[in-house]
Amino acid sequence: MNVSPAMATPSLLEIALFYAEAGVDEVIGEVPVDRTVAPPPRSPAATEAVAAGAGRPAAGATPARGAVPPMAMPPAAPAAQQALLSVQAVESAASEAARACRTVPELEAAIRAFEGCALRATATNTVIARGNPQAPLMIIGEAPGRDEDAQGLPFVGESGQLLDRMLKAIGRDESNVYISNILFWRPPGNRDPSAEEIVACRPFIERLIELVQPKVIACAGKHSAATLLGATGITRIRGRWHEYRRGDLVIPAMPLLHPAYLLRQPGVKREAWRDMLSLAEKLEELK
Ligand code: URA
Repeated sequence: MNVSPAMATPSLLEIALFYAEAGVDEVIGEVPVDRTVAPPPRSPAATEAVAAGAGRPAAGATPARGAVPPMAMPPAAPAAQQALLSVQAVESAASEAARACRTVPELEAAIRAFEGCALRATATNTVIARGNPQAPLMIIGEAPGRDEDAQGLPFVGESGQLLDRMLKAIGRDESNVYISNILFWRPPGNRDPSAEEIVACRPFIERLIELVQPKVIACAGKHSAATLLGATGITRIRGRWHEYRRGDLVIPAMPLLHPAYLLRQPGVKREAWRDMLSLAEKLEELK
């Protein structure tokens, strides 16, 4: 029987090219996982334990790629209520772990060991911060992208390079800026952070701010501004002074347009430049 070339089994290279053209640029597991099938139910006690990271590989161990994130659904409980319980358990595990840290290196170790954020399973690296933790200016973005995940450092890709140029224009570099994100692991495909992921990471970024106590905070992008300042509508609120408040800590904070947005919309760079000048003025004032 003659097999037409068009019907021949495609080579691995052809399959890879097909996926690349379709926009699939990353493999996150070796075995396909059918996420439409509910896993076997867990007891509420097991759910709490999973949220707190119990019964998992030792701290620092690399989780299996493509591992199914913890799901919590005892048959009797309504799904929404159970999900809420699970989110609360993750948040309290994160808060407890963060509160116990007295120094930035301790906090970094606690974040690396934390297993309550499902993104950890698909990320290559935990991405925490770069720059000088004693710096008066702290920039807080959204989440690591592909380059950040590969290098384990925040804002090192194209948008990070733009951020560095903007900072340089006001006399700042890694010696006098500290840069972090509200999430410490890359959301696959650079999708927006989910509410659950933000809840799991927020106690750590709040503790990092508390330990570093910068004089001024700049929130790069809408998710950072919403999470840390409760401020929404980034194009309206950018460049306006807000306050980051937590307990007794009050720090002047400014929402900024995200550098990735500036790369897509170069027309708004003029506004971004104004915001940088305003940051520089405030830092001068607080010297
Ligand atoms: N975008 C962010 O918000 N943070 C990074 O680290 C990289 C890109």
